[in-house]
Amino acid sequence: MLGEVLESLQLKSGSVVCDCTLGGAGHSVKMAAQVGETGLLLGVDQDDMALEAAGARLDREVPAFRTSC
Ligand SMILES: C[S@@+](CC[C@H](N)C(=O)[O-])C[C@H]1O[C@@H](n2cnc3c(N)ncnc32)[C@H](O)[C@@H]1O
Repeated sequence: MLGEVLESLQLKSGSVVCDCTLGGAGHSVKMAAQVGETGLLLGVDQDDMALEAAGARLDREVPAFRTSC
C-alpha cells in the first residue's frame, strides 16, 4: 500500500502534501523525506496522542523535518 501511495503522488522536492490520517506516521516519514526542506507536509489526525507520537517520529527519522503545531 505504501508503495502504491508514493507512486501515485509523484512527490518531489518542494511538493506540498497533506496526510489526513497521520496515525503512526509510516506514510508521512516517507513523504516528508521526498518533499524535503523546501516542501511542506501537513499532518491531520483526530487522535492527539497519535499526533504527538507522529511528530516525535518525524523529528527523529527525517533529519530536515521541523515539527510545527
Ligand atoms: C491506520 S492509522 C493511519 C496509519 C498511517 N497512515 C501510517 O502510515 O502510520 C489511521 C489513523 O486515522 C485516524 N483517523 C481516522 N478517521 C479520522 C478522521 N475522520 N479524521 C482524522 N483522523 C482520522 C485515526 O485516529 C488513526 O490514527
